[in-house]
Amino acid sequence: MELADLDLDPLRQLERWMEEARAAGEPMPEAMCVATAGADGQPAARMVLMRGLDTGVVFYTDYGSDKSRDLAANPRAAALFHYFAPVHRQVRVTGAVERTSAADSDRYWATRPAASRRSALVSHQSSVVESRTVLEDGVAALAGVEEPVRPDRWGGFRITPVRIEFWEEGPARLHDRIRFVRHGDGWRTERLSP
Ligand SMILES: Cc1cc2nc3c(=O)[nH]c(=O)nc-3n(C[C@H](O)[C@H](O)[C@H](O)COP(=O)(O)O)c2cc1C
Repeated sequence: MELADLDLDPLRQLERWMEEARAAGEPMPEAMCVATAGADGQPAARMVLMRGLDTGVVFYTDYGSDKSRDLAANPRAAALFHYFAPVHRQVRVTGAVERTSAADSDRYWATRPAASRRSALVSHQSSVVESRTVLEDGVAALAGVEEPVRPDRWGGFRITPVRIEFWEEGPARLHDRIRFVRHGDGWRTERLSP
């Protein structure tokens, strides 16, 4: 992999690899692991689905969840994509995090199936719940609600990258690593030892 093979905009390059992965049969190329660290400095990682790729990487969640509490205390995150197809690749996105606008969250909320929206109303993500039955009863009680309204506690985050690294497997572990580092309005690029 040479720098000349990559888009000058690393977010467009990420999009390109994601589409190549999808075309090559990766079942969920938009899945990414997001790592956060809250006030206690303890890192935590979990999978989320990338639901927007504009000036940053967007995902949606519950603002009351553990990850959101971390992000309120320390609005920085690292996201990781990993693919086996069409070749073994990894993309690391590091940056500052802010909430998406309420309008963005409303727009995405509206695209979700009503049943998923009802589940989100019942589930206060990451809180301890006594049993599965409590959740199922809560959802059953909303059975007639066809257009569940987005609660204020549910919405998106955008990770605006300061660094994006593209990794591609090479022969004999001589892998390629090319890193984009935010530089003013543009990007500085550098090759890293594998
Ligand atoms: C493939 C996959 C995709 C997921 N997508 C999301 C998502 O988009 N948003 C979300 O809040 N949780 C998603 N989850 C659940 C999270 O991994 C996690 O359990 C949840 O967000 C609570 O994390 P927290 O307690 O660290 O806040 C997903 C899990 C998997 C395995």
